[in-house]
Amino acid sequence: MGTYLITGATGGIGGATAELLRDRGHELILTGRSPERLAAVQQRLSGGAHARTQEIRQVNSDHASGSGARTATDTRVTTLPLDLAAPRRLEAALAVAGLPARLDGLVYAAGVAHLDKVVDTETDEWIEHLSVNLVSAAELTRLLLPALRAARGQIVYVNSTAGLRANPRWAAYAASKWGLRALADSVRAEEPEIRVTSFFPGRTATEMQRRVRAQEGASYDPSEFASPESMARTVVAALETPRDAEVTEITVRPRP
Ligand SMILES: NC(=O)c1ccc[n+]([C@@H]2O[C@H](COP(=O)([O-])OP(=O)(O)OC[C@H]3O[C@@H](n4cnc5c(N)ncnc54)[C@H](OP(=O)(O)O)[C@@H]3O)[C@@H](O)[C@H]2O)c1
Repeated sequence: MGTYLITGATGGIGGATAELLRDRGHELILTGRSPERLAAVQQRLSGGAHARTQEIRQVNSDHASGSGARTATDTRVTTLPLDLAAPRRLEAALAVAGLPARLDGLVYAAGVAHLDKVVDTETDEWIEHLSVNLVSAAELTRLLLPALRAARGQIVYVNSTAGLRANPRWAAYAASKWGLRALADSVRAEEPEIRVTSFFPGRTATEMQRRVRAQEGASYDPSEFASPESMARTVVAALETPRDAEVTEITVRPRP
């Protein structure tokens, strides 16, 4: 069994990925902004297929309430609150958490999307998109590379079709995702022991999509989009590709 760190684990695609990996018996380190939302995901996952094997324990109980504390009610599912809008703080947070020496996979599924024309996009919007969607992905990669190298592990960066095409009102989001693709390509070229996947999903029925539709002035009907479970299956398929092959890029579009 492996150990996987998932960002955006409180979200649609990240949460569904966590569930599939949990069902396979892997150890999970779930990250998100809110300790309460993370605890709810942890509880949901702890009620799953492996519930009978759980034991109660607390990791780093001295720091249990603050950012960077890792808490566990299950040896296989721990949580780590991280604010990815503040990439400079990640190193200290991970140092407090005490991450594993070996990491089989990083799934970077956190992300933000706010739509605006360039003429209306203020600096803080650019900074938030670039921080959450790109700079923190680079910083987490840097910090976790020793553990990923030790396990000959894998990274899946959840990108977007906006990382392939920049449409009107999507400049900040698309720029962050184009950058994320560049990050993936560079890490793949620099780290021969680590497999790196850029995953480009189309519109998916999650909270992010509900908000995007509101910003587009359109109604939100989840059945018009791919489910987060379908997207998560693609992530896990990339992770489970035999070691003599590497999924470098994969695009999945919704079919109504
Ligand atoms: N949904 C789509 O149509 C779609 C399409 C293409 C690509 N994607 C990409 O897929 C990935 C997952 O998105 P989703 O659709 O699953 O959206 P989602 O349900 O809204 O989840 C987004 C996740 O990102 C986390 N996040 C946001 N800001 C954060 C911050 N400052 N610090 C830490 N975590 C933060 C959220 O945590 P909180 O719970 O704290 O908010 C949540 O876990 C994103 O990279 C997105 O760009 C989505």
